[in-house]
Amino acid sequence: MNAIEVKNLRRVYRARIGVIKRSIKEVIAVEDISFVIKSGELFGLLGPNGAGKTTTVKMLATLLIPTKGTATILGYDVVKDANEVRKHIGFIFGGERGLYWRLSGIDNLRYFASLYSVEPEVSKKRIPYLLEMVGLKDRGNERVEGYSRGMKQRLHVARTLLHDPEILFLDEPTIGLDPVGARDFRQVIRDLQSEKKTILLTTHYMFEADSLCQRVAVIDKGIIVAMDSPSELKKHVADLSVIEIETFGTSAEVVERLRALSFVDALHVQEQDQRQMLLVQTARGAEAVPDIMASLNGQRIGRVIVREPTLEDAYVRLVGGHA
Ligand SMILES: Nc1ncnc2c1ncn2[C@@H]1O[C@H](COP(=O)(O)OP(=O)(O)O)[C@@H](O)[C@H]1O
Ligand SMILES: [Mg+2]
Repeated sequence: MNAIEVKNLRRVYRARIGVIKRSIKEVIAVEDISFVIKSGELFGLLGPNGAGKTTTVKMLATLLIPTKGTATILGYDVVKDANEVRKHIGFIFGGERGLYWRLSGIDNLRYFASLYSVEPEVSKKRIPYLLEMVGLKDRGNERVEGYSRGMKQRLHVARTLLHDPEILFLDEPTIGLDPVGARDFRQVIRDLQSEKKTILLTTHYMFEADSLCQRVAVIDKGIIVAMDSPSELKKHVADLSVIEIETFGTSAEVVERLRALSFVDALHVQEQDQRQMLLVQTARGAEAVPDIMASLNGQRIGRVIVREPTLEDAYVRLVGGHA
């Protein structure tokens, strides 16, 4: 059975600009997207900033009305049956506040349980269960203001599970978490899936989608450019090698010169402090290194590595290197 069905969904924002001469500017946040998510599936929506991920999730979570198209959750229409949809979904948006910092974790959950009209007998059992599940069992009596960012994010998950929704929307839930916090959070996501929840996760971390999701849709500028399992997506780049070149102070002009080389399939630049990592995708493998070095003549160069492509590289190829 399909938990979520999305057909030709579109959302246009109308933003007022100008103070004296007022005009309205239209932003097409989601152009036309369609996908289905099976019951119990962990589905990733992957894309660079501004791709339309949050807008999509907000339409599915009944927080924004689509401009066009339809979406159903367990067969309920997100516009016409919004109240019914809300009973079956939970969501967390990255960086969302929505917790009472002066209250303990347990008191936050008690408060939201009564707000969501969860029966007291139910919440009495459910709150300790959820605290245990998100790894906050021993910290539930402490005030939330003393929690790390990762702990707050996990408390958000417990909060959104109070009414036991079958479907969860997690919008970039690990953004801003330290590596350990993010790893713990990913384990919570895996546990949720083993509880048969249907999960739509948005992220711009490729390895996260790779390690968690059964299927991934790559979205760019409001359009789905690829949809498959992570291993199938990786086949898009199976014929390529990636050459990583560490450079210092390389100009845009040099980058363009490299990009123009006939054997360069894609080139992505990662800025890191004083240096740039140039990620060159090429079918020629290590044989391309001398030609690349020749065209980088005069640049300061550090390490050079030739490696197999990852899902991240497939993504770079799909979204054209501007990710
Ligand atoms: N309230 C808004 N008004 C106008 N434009 C918006 C609004 N929210 C988002 N946008 C624009 O819509 C596009 C998609 O945004 P968003 O869905 O937040 O992308 P993502 O979550 O993938 O980063 C972006 O160009 C963004 O600037
Ligand atoms: Mg977003």
